[in-house]
Amino acid sequence: MRVEYDELEKVIVALTEGETDSVALMATLACEIHHADDRFDWTGFYRVVAPQLLKIGPYQGGHGCLVIPFERGVCGAAARTGEVQLVADVDAFPGHIACASSTRSEIVLPVWNGAGKLIAVLDIDSNRPAAFDDRDAAGLARILGAVFADAE
Ligand code: SME
Repeated sequence: MRVEYDELEKVIVALTEGETDSVALMATLACEIHHADDRFDWTGFYRVVAPQLLKIGPYQGGHGCLVIPFERGVCGAAARTGEVQLVADVDAFPGHIACASSTRSEIVLPVWNGAGKLIAVLDIDSNRPAAFDDRDAAGLARILGAVFADAE
């Protein structure tokens, strides 16, 4: 199935209402997003835990590598630039970190709280090539903005 972002946002906002703990929010989003679309084979967060350093957060799917410096990988690029990374072919992305050899494409979005602090990135991987587009970027960005506005 294909995700309906409007519907998914309603469900997630209802489930997370009043919650400000970022790990509780990330765990809920990883689960709800992952199971909303057949294209999503790995869905999870890397948290900003120190200057220029990401560490694994809640996720769904196979094993994810634990530590990603900002200078590495697609996740690092999203954290470094503050821009959504839409990667149609992971083999063509210099420095892509392959946590699973089955991954063909991915999208990574920066996650800010309402104070404008970068707290994490959201990474979704697909075993299909060019699985993601601007609709995914827009739908996911809206959900992240709504959910993490009051996150600690
Ligand atoms: N592919 C990511 C690493 C995270 S795993 O795919 C779960 C990257 O290049 O940053």
